[in-house]
Amino acid sequence: MGDKGFSALRPGFCFVSFILLLNVVHGDLSYSIQEEIKRGTVIGNIAKDLGIDLRTLSSRKARVDFEGTQQRYCDMNLNTGDLITTERIDRESLCGKKPSCVLVIDLLLENPLELHRVSLHVTDVNDNSPKFKKMLIEMEISESADKGNRFSIEEAHDADIGQNTVQRYNLQKNDYFILAVDNNKVELVLENTLDREKQKEMNLLLTALDGGSPQRSGTVVIHVTVLDANDNAPVFSQAVYKASLPENSPPDTVVINVSATDADEGVNGDVTYDFGHLTDDDVNVFSIDHKTGEIRVTGVIDFEARSSFEMRVEAKDGLGLTSYAKVIIDVTDVNDNVPLIYLKSLTNPIPENVSPGSEVGIVNVQDRDSESNRQVRCSIQQNVPFKLVPSIKNYYSLVTTGQLDRELVSDYNITITATDEGSPPLSSSKTVQLSVADINDNPPVFEEQSYSAYVTENNKPGSTLCSVTARDPDWRQNGTVVYSLLPGEVNGASVSSYLSVNGDTGCDPRCEVV
Ligand SMILES: *[C@@H]1O[C@H](CO)[C@@H](O)[C@H](O)[C@H]1NC(C)=O
Ligand SMILES: *[C@@H]1O[C@H](CO)[C@@H](O)[C@H](O)[C@H]1NC(C)=O
Ligand SMILES: *[C@@H]1O[C@H](CO)[C@@H](O)[C@H](O)[C@H]1NC(C)=O
Repeated sequence: MGDKGFSALRPGFCFVSFILLLNVVHGDLSYSIQEEIKRGTVIGNIAKDLGIDLRTLSSRKARVDFEGTQQRYCDMNLNTGDLITTERIDRESLCGKKPSCVLVIDLLLENPLELHRVSLHVTDVNDNSPKFKKMLIEMEISESADKGNRFSIEEAHDADIGQNTVQRYNLQKNDYFILAVDNNKVELVLENTLDREKQKEMNLLLTALDGGSPQRSGTVVIHVTVLDANDNAPVFSQAVYKASLPENSPPDTVVINVSATDADEGVNGDVTYDFGHLTDDDVNVFSIDHKTGEIRVTGVIDFEARSSFEMRVEAKDGLGLTSYAKVIIDVTDVNDNVPLIYLKSLTNPIPENVSPGSEVGIVNVQDRDSESNRQVRCSIQQNVPFKLVPSIKNYYSLVTTGQLDRELVSDYNITITATDEGSPPLSSSKTVQLSVADINDNPPVFEEQSYSAYVTENNKPGSTLCSVTARDPDWRQNGTVVYSLLPGEVNGASVSSYLSVNGDTGCDPRCEVV
C-alpha cells in the first residue's frame, strides 16, 4: 500500500502547461506506491488529504488528468474520494533507470478551476532478474596468457534499480579463473596459466545476483577456447635412434624413420625434419624426407671405409621451434672382400739338399672384412713336398716336407689358396714358381760295368778302339762327365802310352795296340 504524505513542490517537476499558466496551485499531494501494485488499490483519499468534502468534490466535477500520456494509471472514486490504481504501473517502463520515479497527476476541480498536482512516487520492487546480453559468451584466450591477465566480461543488466539491481557476481569454481568485479567492471582474472595441450576449452558459469528480496539471479555460460601458442617444441619419439645397415645397401634403402610429435595445433604442430650439421663426408650418403622423417641411403655404404655414422636430426615446427635427436647407424659387414695373398719372402731357387722342414718362404694373407669375414684359412695343394705352417697373425711359413731332388722334380708350381669364413666364403689363390737348384749329388755312372774291345795288331795309332759313356743327371757342370784313364801298366809300360781317351766324349781316338 502506498504511503501517503505531503511533500513540498519539487522544482524539478515544475513543468510548463497551459493549465499551470492559467491557474494558481493551491496545494500538492504526494504519495508513494510500489510498482506493479494490484489494480484497484487505493493510493490515498484525495478528499481527506485536500480537506474537501465529498459533495464539493462531486459538484466541482473533480477529475484526474495525466500530462503527456495516454495511459490512465489511476482514477478517482467521487463517492469515496479515493485515488485508485486502474492500470499496471511498471516503474521500469515509466522511468527506466532513473533513481526516482514520479508519476504526476493533475487533479482538476471546476468552478472555479482549480489544479492540484499529485505526485505518485513509484518505488521499485525486485521484479526483474539480472540478465546477460547473451546466454553464451565465447572467449578465445591464448594459452600463453600470463597469470594475472584480465579478460572483460560484459556485465549483467537488471532493469530494477538500487538494491534490486545487480549487486554481485559469482563465478563457478574452476581451476583457472577467478572473478574481479570493480565498479561494475566484470573481469576474469587468470589465476593459473592455461595449457591448451591439457585442456583446450572450458565452460565457466557466471551468475549475477541482485540485492532484492527475494533475490533474483541470471547466469551466463562463458565458453573459453584456449588458443594454441607455439609453446611446444616438437618432441622426438626417441633421444637416440639406432639402426643397423648392411654395407653395399643400394641407394633408396630405408634406414630408419625418425618421428617427432608436436602438441601444438595447426602450423604450430607441423613438424618437418632435416639433418643437423653433417660432415662433408656424410652429406651425400643419406637423405631425410622432410615430411615423414624417413632416412634413406643415397651414397655408397662401405663398411671398410666407414663402419658407423652418427648424425643429428632436427625436427622443426611451423614457427621454428626445434628439437634434436641423434641417429646412430651401424654398418654391418658383408663379405665383399676377397682375401689377398702376399708373398713376403721366398728362397728361389731352393738347393735340392735342404733338409726337410726348411722354411723357403713367408706368406701373408689379408682380408679387409671383419669378424668371421676376415678369418682366412690358407692352404696349398697336396702332392708337393711343401706345406704352410701358420705363424703369427696372418703369416704362414712355406716349409719343405721332404727331401727335394732336382733330378726328379726341378720345378714346382705351388698354388696357395686363401679362403675366408664368410658366408658365402670368398677365396683367392696365388701360384708360386719354385725351382730346385742343383747340387752335385750324383756321380757319373757308366752305361756298362765293363767294356770289351778287340783290336787287330799293328793298327795305326789314332784308330778308335771303342767308345765309353758315363751319365750324370746333375745340372750342367755338375752333370758334365769328363773322361780320363786311370794310371796303370801294361807289360811294364804305362797304359797311357797305348791308349788315350777323349775327355769330353769318352771316345778313344788314339787307341794303339801294343
Ligand atoms: C618408415 O615409414 C614408412 C612409411 O612412412 C614405412 O613404409 C617404412 O617401412 C618405415 N621404415 C622403417 C625402417 O621403419
Ligand atoms: C708351372 O707354370 C708355368 C706357367 O704356367 C708352366 O709353364 C710350367 O710348365 C709349370 N710347371 C709345372 C712343373 O707344372
Ligand atoms: C753344382 O753343385 C754345386 C754344389 O754341389 C753348386 O754350388 C753349384 O751351383 C752347382 N752348379 C750348377 C750349374 O747348378
